[in-house]
Amino acid sequence: MCGIVAYIGNKQAFPIIISGLKRLEYRGYDSAGIALFNEGVKVYKCKGKVSDLEVHTTGEDVSGTLGIGHTRWATHGEPNDVNAHPHTSQRGYVTLIHNGIIENYGELRRKLERRGYEFKSETDTEVLVNLIEYIYLKGDVSCEIAVRLALSKVIGAFGLAIIFNEDPDLLIGARRGSPLVIGVGNKEYFLASDATPIIEHTNSVIFMNDDDVAVIRRGELTLKTIDNNLLEPEIQTIDLDIEEIEKGGFDHFMLKEIFEQPRSIKDTFRGRLSADLNDIHLGGLYSVLPRLVEAKRIILIGCGTSWHAALLGEYLIEELARIPVEVEYASEFRYRNPVIYPDDVVIAISQSGETADTLAAIKLAKSRGAMVLGICNVVGSSIPRETHAGVYTHAGPEIGVASTKAFTAQVTVLTMIAILLGKHRKTVTNELATTLINELGSIPAKIERILESNSKIEAIARLFKDSTNFLYLGRGYFFPVALEGALKLKEISYIHAEGYPAAEMKHGPIALIDDKMPVVVIAAKDSSYDKVVSNIQEVKARKGIVIAIVSEGDTTIKGMADYTIEIPEVHETMEGLLAVVPLQLLSYHIALMRGCNVDQPRNLAKSVTVE
Ligand code: F6R
Repeated sequence: MCGIVAYIGNKQAFPIIISGLKRLEYRGYDSAGIALFNEGVKVYKCKGKVSDLEVHTTGEDVSGTLGIGHTRWATHGEPNDVNAHPHTSQRGYVTLIHNGIIENYGELRRKLERRGYEFKSETDTEVLVNLIEYIYLKGDVSCEIAVRLALSKVIGAFGLAIIFNEDPDLLIGARRGSPLVIGVGNKEYFLASDATPIIEHTNSVIFMNDDDVAVIRRGELTLKTIDNNLLEPEIQTIDLDIEEIEKGGFDHFMLKEIFEQPRSIKDTFRGRLSADLNDIHLGGLYSVLPRLVEAKRIILIGCGTSWHAALLGEYLIEELARIPVEVEYASEFRYRNPVIYPDDVVIAISQSGETADTLAAIKLAKSRGAMVLGICNVVGSSIPRETHAGVYTHAGPEIGVASTKAFTAQVTVLTMIAILLGKHRKTVTNELATTLINELGSIPAKIERILESNSKIEAIARLFKDSTNFLYLGRGYFFPVALEGALKLKEISYIHAEGYPAAEMKHGPIALIDDKMPVVVIAAKDSSYDKVVSNIQEVKARKGIVIAIVSEGDTTIKGMADYTIEIPEVHETMEGLLAVVPLQLLSYHIALMRGCNVDQPRNLAKSVTVE
């Protein structure tokens, strides 16, 4: 959700910022802009992508060793040249980039208007930049003090990169609620929304905390709070491989990430399955295990795809550990005054670790005394730092906006947690644990087999690329997978799709079925197989077109469905990990054939750091 890259050092800032913005483009791609210091601040910005900004700056003087850049996902104001960042204050003293939302911007704007300020854009950001300038000039204070005083008046979220027309050697970063990472190079510093644009320059980073202000003079960093308390910067070395954030020969990040799943799942369970295949080791949970094992209730929270993973988590934990589980949309949980007991354990699931609703739900649960754990993919992101303990998924960076490998990694972690809890609560015998762990170990090779069906799935996609609606049905572990399949299709191909529990079809959606309605039924062999077979017959009786995901060697459904895609058999609790893969591929191919931008679907952003 908006990407920031800033540079101060002795190299040219423009190429560093442009290539960094390209890496961050998955966070937003409505408009892009850059400000460079070269005998004063020069701003270039336009509607569109970073490549449009490159065209826009062709022939311009883009030299300078201090600069800030932005790629935007619109919140206030439509995406256009004026609303694009950076924004410069009315008298030209301050130029900044802002991620987040200033909630009291209306009130601040009215105050500034009374003092003679006029506004060109509809953005809350323009209010902030003018507020800093107003304090700077009126108070006759330093740039840094003006920033800190202005921020103390702001209600809302911000990740900021700020430069000043009167100071060629100063870059200021600030964070509250919107992520910001400082890269520490050799006499140079970087600021970015996450580490991906920094990693090709340095692997030494500082993850800023809420209310931190980074005052960077050339070659020198001072970290302090908005209230002017000095902080000791904690420099961490991050382990991120540049190849992981490149397409590596695939046409799209999404396809690469789908194909990476055998490896990302292996990376997620690597070192966590005991040598005798009898137990699970999750180091991040050691300190909290007794409380987790004794939990009276577990509440799983997340948004979007992570919420679907949570639904699978509910089935897994209730089945294997016999602890009652509730699954909540973070956005609902945070506002509906939920009942939370001190012996509840809340587990927040998030790929990015930055989702605003999930973060707010965590804070609410903590304030009510619950222990809160995180399952996150991005190391050092806000959620792992806000929770009491947690487990990283190790899926590697997920760049495609549609989540794929993060989902299967989340489900892998939830499977391990369910087995671990089952072992400790003696609801999983040693024998069952060994079976489950063996099965988990077999998942990567089984996904490899599914990926071999890619061209078959592509051929099916071709037949349905012009459909306007899709229905996805599944029972048990396949119900969350049906929801996830439908979400994948709608978000990247813009086809309307709904996921339903197969048995619910007859309570309403069956009315939709006719000879134009493709119905994807996840019908691999499990305990509800016979019931799903009946559901398929119900669809066929109404002339619906059935695309069925079936177990290898299934002949019953092959005789009934119009198209089938096979997946290998696996223990029922892990079938979701396999069944989702053909659905990811189906969405990918349909979206591609419809000419959609698979990696950057319209209106979406990867990391939703606003409500
Ligand atoms: C769908 C998708 C979104 C995210 C959701 C939560 O493909 O990517 O639905 O799953 O925005 O994001 P995280 O997991 O980062 O909290």
